[in-house]
Amino acid sequence: MRILIMNGPNLNRLGKREPDIYGHETLADVEAMIETYANEHGIDVSFIQSNYEGALIDAIHDAADEGIDGIVINPGAFTHYSIALRDALAGVDVPAIEVHISNVHTREPFREKSVTAPVCIGQMTGFGTSGYVLALEAFRLRNEKETMK
Ligand code: DQA
Repeated sequence: MRILIMNGPNLNRLGKREPDIYGHETLADVEAMIETYANEHGIDVSFIQSNYEGALIDAIHDAADEGIDGIVINPGAFTHYSIALRDALAGVDVPAIEVHISNVHTREPFREKSVTAPVCIGQMTGFGTSGYVLALEAFRLRNEKETMK
């Protein structure tokens, strides 16, 4: 199983950025944690972080063309308004799980709306950086059930 882990704008600043909300781990720490889990479970992971909407959209198209099995995406603030990102996810035949480190439902009202979540198979929000691993686990269990059919 090949999974692409995508992080959107400002997530390259993890560790420095509002640590009271997002914690002290850097993106490199988080990617290392994901990699460890993936290796333990025979999952092949690749990573992309970009502050640019178009780069994320291109990565979604490329993932589809390469036959990637799933996408774990934290779209950052694009979650709340990027119809282009939503259309990219909707337009490919690759299941995606949305992740938010913070609980977007306990913060400012504008964070409660996700334009991307409706085109994802599910969402993890508020579990800190463990949300990425929980999303991988969700893909793993889903895959297990599908191969049992
Ligand atoms: C976030 C929540 C978003 O509202 C915010 O814009 C982010 C990070 C999270 O991981 O909690 O950049 O996606």
